[in-house]
Amino acid sequence: MNTSDEYMPVPLSTILVDTIIGCDLYIKNCEGDEIKYVLFCTGINAVGQDKIDGLQKHNIENLYIHKSDHKVYLKYLEPSLKKIIKKNIISNTEQVQVAYNIAKNIMEDIFNNPRSGVYVERVKDWVSNTIDIIIREKSASAIIKMLSYDYYTYTHSVNVSVLGLLFSRYLNMKCEDMNALGVGLLLHDIGKTQVSSQIINKKGKLTDEEFGEMKTHVVSGAEILFHVGGIEDVAFFPVMQHHERMNGKGYPNGLQGNAIHEYGKIAAIIDVYDALTTRRSYSDARNPFAALKIMRDEMRGSFDEELFIDFILFLNQVK
Ligand SMILES: [Fe+2]
Repeated sequence: MNTSDEYMPVPLSTILVDTIIGCDLYIKNCEGDEIKYVLFCTGINAVGQDKIDGLQKHNIENLYIHKSDHKVYLKYLEPSLKKIIKKNIISNTEQVQVAYNIAKNIMEDIFNNPRSGVYVERVKDWVSNTIDIIIREKSASAIIKMLSYDYYTYTHSVNVSVLGLLFSRYLNMKCEDMNALGVGLLLHDIGKTQVSSQIINKKGKLTDEEFGEMKTHVVSGAEILFHVGGIEDVAFFPVMQHHERMNGKGYPNGLQGNAIHEYGKIAAIIDVYDALTTRRSYSDARNPFAALKIMRDEMRGSFDEELFIDFILFLNQVK
């Protein structure tokens, strides 16, 4: 069968000359009502300049891949992301989409194998590329619209990192600091890989014992990252402190006020905000206003007041 829902488009401009994609590429052919996908280049062959010229001559802007090859394509794109952004090969919206999908792919690999250190460089590169996109794309709302509203640990981590980077830009944070913050935010829940999936996926309220196990994800996350190495000291703050609360009622250490690092305070606000505004198995996604209202009224004293007001102002200018 050769049906359109088995395939997805990939912009021709993302295919670099003389590179091997690793998955088959197709051309979409419409004959009357019938749509056929014709093999253009197999995954083991490089796409030559002549082939690309031929497509451009026919104004073909997209090639197609099997949906099941999406991960392979993203893996191919990952090392080219910097080039794609620098040369503006695809539109800003497509850049955001590609960067978002690459991050989901990285997170999936990390969650499958959290103790492999291979991902540290991938994470750092992704954060630095995403900062480049954020700096260039003036409209934060265009980026926020791309975030997923369904909650999965992967997408939550990516959302928190992207939101945190946008917020840090709003706060005029230095680029170097944004990099460390973005890495810490992307990896903030890595310790959840050590918590049993029954607890992670439980729909109802956790028992005290289950909640006790859930809380261990903070320390085990930091342990994993320490063991893996290559991560800046300050990037540990979002991991270690995203569940600390200004009034001392958080965990793991019950830190209060300025004993919590600025990155920990930012991580706490964004972690809760993203969890409230995404769809969960046990609750619908709240709109931003409702989420902020819960954070202000029901979680009074939890967050740094100044940063929380800044966050509200940031979201307000995003609309
Ligand atoms: Fe967490």
